[in-house]
Amino acid sequence: MIELKSVSKTYRVGSITTEAIRGIDLHVRKGEIFGVIGHSGAGKSTLLRCVNLLERPTTGSVIVGDTDLTRLSGRQLQQHRRRIGIIFQHFNLLSTATVRDNIAFPLKLAKTPRAEMKARVDELIGLVGLEGHGDKYPSQLSGGQKQRVGIARALANRPEVLLCDEATSALDPQTTDSILSLLLGINEKLGLTIMLITHEMHVIRTICDRVAVIDGGEIVEMGDVIDVFLHPRSNVAKEFVAQSSEASGESLSSLDSMRKGKLLRIRFKGESTFEPVLFEAVKETGASFSILQGTVSRMKHIPYGQLIVDVRGSGEDVERIVRRLHEEGLEAEVLA
Ligand SMILES: Nc1ncnc2c1ncn2[C@@H]1O[C@H](COP(=O)(O)OP(=O)(O)O)[C@@H](O)[C@H]1O
Ligand SMILES: [Mg+2]
Repeated sequence: MIELKSVSKTYRVGSITTEAIRGIDLHVRKGEIFGVIGHSGAGKSTLLRCVNLLERPTTGSVIVGDTDLTRLSGRQLQQHRRRIGIIFQHFNLLSTATVRDNIAFPLKLAKTPRAEMKARVDELIGLVGLEGHGDKYPSQLSGGQKQRVGIARALANRPEVLLCDEATSALDPQTTDSILSLLLGINEKLGLTIMLITHEMHVIRTICDRVAVIDGGEIVEMGDVIDVFLHPRSNVAKEFVAQSSEASGESLSSLDSMRKGKLLRIRFKGESTFEPVLFEAVKETGASFSILQGTVSRMKHIPYGQLIVDVRGSGEDVERIVRRLHEEGLEAEVLA
């Protein structure tokens, strides 16, 4: 749905040049929620703005649907931009216009007939849950409600793609989750392709299918969210995973001081019911175990978990248990 090929953007301000993004290749599939995570200054906003050519790439091509946007003239580009909605961290609403008029704005630009426009605005207000707020001004709304207006406005012309630039970064955690669940609902209901950028792993874990990690203007890692989360390879990805709350817990060294046998780390993803499997595997050997630490959680819809257990048995028993768990599709490793 979105394809970036060798996209680079260099800013020149006076004698200073900044290579904001370099050689970006990525493909966002139709209907997925694709996240880009990176620290401040990594090039996220530049990357996102290159997708609808708010920023024209210095080199490379940007294909949305089957159209190479970098080859279009101004007028054609305007037409194609209607198929791409965008929402922003600070909402960018017109402060002197009501909620209805903010949402109607892109419909007016598209010269939508009056009656149709009114019906569409009503429909959008319902879609984002702003019934009863249509005649208010942005200053009378909470942050979450403002972003709902931003979303309704972005969806007005029925785009195929929605771009989100730190859409929840100005919101408190609870409001963040309500906006994320709205975006997920819209993605599922309308089949809308969403590309979002964020510096929060929480956002990625909650709604994204795949993620790219960007650092210094380059993509350093890309994959299914659950794989990147469970096996981050780059230093930046490791940092983001570590910051994300559930990776915390007692440190390995303190667990190590508690153990009586060997420490075994077991991970699973998907529907494997790992406790019975572990129990069976240990029972076969005559060893025993106790659980020192465990988390079971959900990434978007996929359950995943990690257990650290203290296994008391011979070295051979432990090897057999590990082998058995591997056969059942679980990851298991003895911690040194
Ligand atoms: N309009 C601009 N002019 C000059 N430099 C810019 C401009 N926009 C961004 N930059 C620079 O490009 C780099 C990437 O910025 P940006 O894409 O905003 O990163 P992020 O969104 O990840 O914080 C930064 O070094 C920033 O200072
Ligand atoms: Mg930014």
